[in-house]
Amino acid sequence: MQRIAVIPGSFDPVTLGHLDVIGRTCHLFDETHVLVVHNPAKSAMLPFADRVRLLEESIEEAGLNEVAASGGGKIVVASWSVGLLVDYVTEVGAQVLVKGIRSSNDVTYETPMAIVNRNLAGVETMMIVTDPAHTHVSSSLVRQVASLAGDVSPYVPPAVARFLK
Ligand code: PNS
Repeated sequence: MQRIAVIPGSFDPVTLGHLDVIGRTCHLFDETHVLVVHNPAKSAMLPFADRVRLLEESIEEAGLNEVAASGGGKIVVASWSVGLLVDYVTEVGAQVLVKGIRSSNDVTYETPMAIVNRNLAGVETMMIVTDPAHTHVSSSLVRQVASLAGDVSPYVPPAVARFLK
């Protein structure tokens, strides 16, 4: 059986913390789908298509596609804008959702969603503790710094820093 994981998020924009989680997850599964999810409850800074493109560029620039080329797990960037997240998970035959955890706040936020996703479709959630170098990094912080014309390069992949400049 192919072991497939899905890492969902708004990726508005993708950060170095996200890349850390993607890079560590792709070694553990045959395929890792990084899924840009449209969240109607949030008004995004970046258009959906830019978020997908910046993820693709960032994964490529970080050399993560070479993991697949050297016999590791393949990374697929995809998007989902209609229906439940677990619908995508079951459609592609994935078994696991992966979430990055920076602090106990993230555990508190993620736990009810993990329970509901398991109730809905039997999908398990795996929580990966973010590298301590990135525990202070969030997309919302990046959006705030960027909106005030600050330097976001310590927090985001180079492709995102170039785009936001
Ligand atoms: O990067 P974000 O904004 O924290 O990502 C949130 C996301 C996309 C993971 C979350 O909003 C989500 O899981 N959306 C899917 C909607 C859904 O299926 N809800 C029902 C089960 S919780």
